[in-house]
Amino acid sequence: MSLSNSKELNGKLGVLVVGLGAVTTTFITGVLMTRKGLAKPVGSMTQYDKIRVGKGADKKYLHYKDIVPLAELDDIVFGAWDVYPDNAYESAIKAEVLKEKDINPVKEELERIKPMKAAFDKSYAKRLAGTNVMEGMTRWEMVEQLRKDIRNFKKETGVERVVVLWAASTEVFVPVDMDIHGSLEALEKAMKADDKERIAPSMCYAYAALSEGAPFIMGAPNTTIDIPAMWQLADKTKMPIAGKDFKTGQTLVKSGFAPIIGTRCLGLSGWFSTNILGNRDGLVLDEPANFRTKEVSKLSTLESILVPENQPDLYGHGNDDDSQYYHKVRINYYPPRNDNKESWDNIDIFGWMGYPMQIKINFLCRDSILAAPVCLDLVLLTDLAARAGRYGIQRFLSFFLKSPMHDYSKKEVPVNHLFQQYVMLKNAIREMGGYEADEEID
Ligand SMILES: NC(=O)c1ccc[n+]([C@@H]2O[C@H](COP(=O)([O-])OP(=O)(O)OC[C@H]3O[C@@H](n4cnc5c(N)ncnc54)[C@H](O)[C@@H]3O)[C@@H](O)[C@H]2O)c1
Repeated sequence: MSLSNSKELNGKLGVLVVGLGAVTTTFITGVLMTRKGLAKPVGSMTQYDKIRVGKGADKKYLHYKDIVPLAELDDIVFGAWDVYPDNAYESAIKAEVLKEKDINPVKEELERIKPMKAAFDKSYAKRLAGTNVMEGMTRWEMVEQLRKDIRNFKKETGVERVVVLWAASTEVFVPVDMDIHGSLEALEKAMKADDKERIAPSMCYAYAALSEGAPFIMGAPNTTIDIPAMWQLADKTKMPIAGKDFKTGQTLVKSGFAPIIGTRCLGLSGWFSTNILGNRDGLVLDEPANFRTKEVSKLSTLESILVPENQPDLYGHGNDDDSQYYHKVRINYYPPRNDNKESWDNIDIFGWMGYPMQIKINFLCRDSILAAPVCLDLVLLTDLAARAGRYGIQRFLSFFLKSPMHDYSKKEVPVNHLFQQYVMLKNAIREMGGYEADEEID
């Protein structure tokens, strides 16, 4: 569906974020500072990128907002849930991502963002010990409370639409169990039966959001909406869903760098990725069960770019069973670095006649500084998709995600190649703007 004829956008957009930690406070503070003209939203595609529309003599390069009716930063109203009672100002100060001089000009607005009580279960993030939680509720009661929270937020702020974004801690790995996660009916039954093991708190947020007519974005690697039951709910409520796991530092580099190896038909025998980070995210990921969720997500990136079955000579070596290159990802909690993550990639490649070579990448990044613009883009583009009548998994948003969702029950494969993802993104925007999708070279 095209939105080109409905350029006028009325009403405010509510952005309800699950988790008011480092990423969320950096995202919110940046938006508020940009609104005041005190910062620039660097890294945000919706604010900077230009897409070509039309061909030949008719071609022109336009910002996204000149092709499709995107919500303005001024129209966003923020709210959040968190396990800790700190308001957005206190939390931003504690996160130590931004300097006080970059937070204080919007202190009052941040102080007004007080987290609602979290739908939380300590067994999903053992290292967290906050008090701002819903007490003694079953999973279904959590859903009902969250739905009330969304309705109250809408009433109190007068927003027209809401998008719910998960930027909370990574939960422990919940393996997909088709008996519970395979259909909406089974999922609802399990929620009502308070099946704490297979219904993660994040599923309550997603269920509540979709039921209240709000798109849901999963910024962590949790399986939450990556299950047929949630796809059915998104179809039923005609709401878009996007996930999983913001693509920010090491994986962004990987999905942009691996195509060099693949396109040039070089061989790969191993890729070892390691990280040190010291923020609360790192603390939670230090727990093996939580890291497992992240590992699954981080490992998936290479496999659909350098496919061993398609090129056994190039990618069929190195692993224990000698069927694939060796791929390992490690995250180490190291408090002195706080949010300033350092990643190392050692890439063992081989060339002509199998001669080995090595590539080393050392990225000294800032996790939340990279994640904040991704939050903004995902929120604005998901809201756009909802208004364009797109629902279910939004594959065009794969560009922003480490482990892009795809309907695995229909044997769909994910697209991880950064430049193919960019084509998908541009074409979706063209289509929503009433232009033809194409693959012309820009
Ligand atoms: N920063 C990045 O580059 C990046 C990239 C990909 C994914 N992520 C993911 O984004 C998420 C947020 O990262 P962060 O650095 O802000 O972490 P953080 O620890 O600073 O913040 C997460 C917040 O979520 C809260 N929380 C946990 N469970 C909750 C629940 N059930 N309901 C409400 N709140 C809950 C915690 O109390 C905490 O304040 C993590 O899952 C992380 O893995 C971050």
